[in-house]
Amino acid sequence: MLDDHPLAGRTALVTGAGRGIGRATALALAGAGADLVLLARSADQLAAVAGEIRDLGRTAHPIRADLEDPRGVRSAGDEVLDVSGGVDILVNNAARVAPLGGTARLDQDDILDALVLNVLSAVALTSALLPVMVRRGWGRIVNVSSGIVARPEGMVGGNVYVTTKAALEAHTVNLAAELDGTGVTANVYRPGTVDTAMQEWIRDQDPERIGEALHQRFVSSHAEGRLITPERSAAVLLERLLGDGTGRIWDVAAAPGATGDPARSR
Ligand SMILES: NC(=O)c1ccc[n+]([C@@H]2O[C@H](COP(=O)([O-])OP(=O)(O)OC[C@H]3O[C@@H](n4cnc5c(N)ncnc54)[C@H](OP(=O)(O)O)[C@@H]3O)[C@@H](O)[C@H]2O)c1
Repeated sequence: MLDDHPLAGRTALVTGAGRGIGRATALALAGAGADLVLLARSADQLAAVAGEIRDLGRTAHPIRADLEDPRGVRSAGDEVLDVSGGVDILVNNAARVAPLGGTARLDQDDILDALVLNVLSAVALTSALLPVMVRRGWGRIVNVSSGIVARPEGMVGGNVYVTTKAALEAHTVNLAAELDGTGVTANVYRPGTVDTAMQEWIRDQDPERIGEALHQRFVSSHAEGRLITPERSAAVLLERLLGDGTGRIWDVAAAPGATGDPARSR
């Protein structure tokens, strides 16, 4: 029987697919017909999402990997190629917001782990998976960033996070130019302020340690109902990914029906 889903026959890798935006994105891609490779550290969460994807009639390969560890990044790329023969769609979504707090008080290892996870793992996975996309003449790379890159001064106490997301955006736009004419696109996605474990984790931090103003900002956006659902954010990402745009900064707040304020894009 003909499968007329837009992504039928395509395989997608989503990092950080066990929960939050990554999980919702993996489910949205499966709903559009893609088979999935799911990557994160928590086996139970990956197994649950894989089950949901199989219920949609698509295949799902969970891969446990720690993308803060350079060896984990390298073996993850190899394992993805082994189980899939190469993916058509890569969504680099896994990230951490830690370490938070004054830059002078940060732990050096924490800084380096965040750089590896938020930036270098995305660059390395892209490098490992790109040859197959280019050979096939079709590919979609989406790097999940944050709207904070547009106003870095707005997240005092989040210097490492802001640094990593700005670097990821520069990487993406440069990559898109490099890939011009290959059929492989690369875009940034700013997902909005989304109701996930990451937001909850920030609200649970000691305000004295991470900074009162930063803490209050996250508590207020939750209390005022300004968070959007992961499903809403993933739906916008999917809609953009189905097109041919490249080198773009996609922001959920600019999606049709939104008003520039993620709160109203529920
Ligand atoms: N939520 C927001 O409001 C918001 C706003 C702007 C941007 N973002 C961005 O959106 C993306 C997703 O965020 P989220 O809110 O959905 O976060 P989340 O709920 O914390 O989920 C993060 C995912 O990444 C995985 N992950 C974390 N560390 C990992 C590691 N070392 N190795 C492999 N996987 C790892 C987690 O699984 P394990 O812990 O099991 O590994 C989980 O599946 C991130 O890039 C984030 O920066 C989020």
